[in-house]
Amino acid sequence: MKPKVFITRKINQEIVAKMEEFCEVSMWEEEEVPVPRDILMEKIKDVDGLFCLLTETIDEELLETAPHLKVVSNMAVGYNNIDIDAAKKLGITVTNTPGVLTETTADLTFALLMATSRRIVEASSYLKEGKWKTWSPMQLTGQDIHGATLGIIGMGRIGSAVAKRALGFDMNVIYHNRKRVSKLEEELDVKYVEMDHLLKNSDFVCVMVPYTKETDKLISKREFDLMKDTAILINTARGGIVDEQALYAALISNKIWGAGLDVFENEPVSVDHPLLSLDNVVAIPHIGSASIKTRLKMAEVAADNLIKSLKNEEPECVVV
Ligand code: GLV
Ligand code: GLV
Repeated sequence: MKPKVFITRKINQEIVAKMEEFCEVSMWEEEEVPVPRDILMEKIKDVDGLFCLLTETIDEELLETAPHLKVVSNMAVGYNNIDIDAAKKLGITVTNTPGVLTETTADLTFALLMATSRRIVEASSYLKEGKWKTWSPMQLTGQDIHGATLGIIGMGRIGSAVAKRALGFDMNVIYHNRKRVSKLEEELDVKYVEMDHLLKNSDFVCVMVPYTKETDKLISKREFDLMKDTAILINTARGGIVDEQALYAALISNKIWGAGLDVFENEPVSVDHPLLSLDNVVAIPHIGSASIKTRLKMAEVAADNLIKSLKNEEPECVVV
């Protein structure tokens, strides 16, 4: 008998077909609507494997109702949507998709940094709304990227890939990380500094840590108070790392200059969220890894991880 698998969102048919060679697959057939919790609760009861997205909360209650479940394969590098301790306790393998999305997410992070500092979105609206009457010396002026100091909090794979891009723009790169990465310091000409030093000295503060209990609201009022009034915050990691109320307060009081946000505490963020009313916020809907090639690769890696786990082979990317 083939192992049973549930896929929580409509994914590419070729990848489903590949899984069907080995598994009995059922799939939530919607692309833009997440699977309702009660249906997921029902489905998980008799499956051996779950292929899920970061939009699904995989908590202890859910895992406990799944007596056959061997593996949860998350189609994302981040896995804060999954209760890892509960999975470990229940002997359920959890896998993710690091590596394949590193460069694509670094590209987007840099695009957001540039869009925010040079006011690209605001300038485009200005033109399209018929406000452009003349060229003017200080019209839509922003912050320079070249020569600026980029502070990267979290020097993992994606953080390093952002640093590499920054060097091409002649930026001065400093970083803070739980562990110093001396090898990268030489390779990428980046400098390790304490957190407060980074906050005080960076023109761009770029958050690149995973979301955990330790990084919850890591950037809050105290941190904004340390930052330059010309500083720009970039977050393409997870919304919960930044205290959104403190960010809003820092932006309206000109305590910092701008923010580029790809992620929010609650997603999808409501259109009447105060942060979205600000001209100095560039906001995009969690699209860090969203290139066609990379999203297909992520689905492929997630499928491989799932199949290998069900075959009792070692999957490439095991979390627990
Ligand atoms: C996206 O946010 C991911 O974690 O892959
Ligand atoms: C984070 O998970 C990274 O790959 O840097």
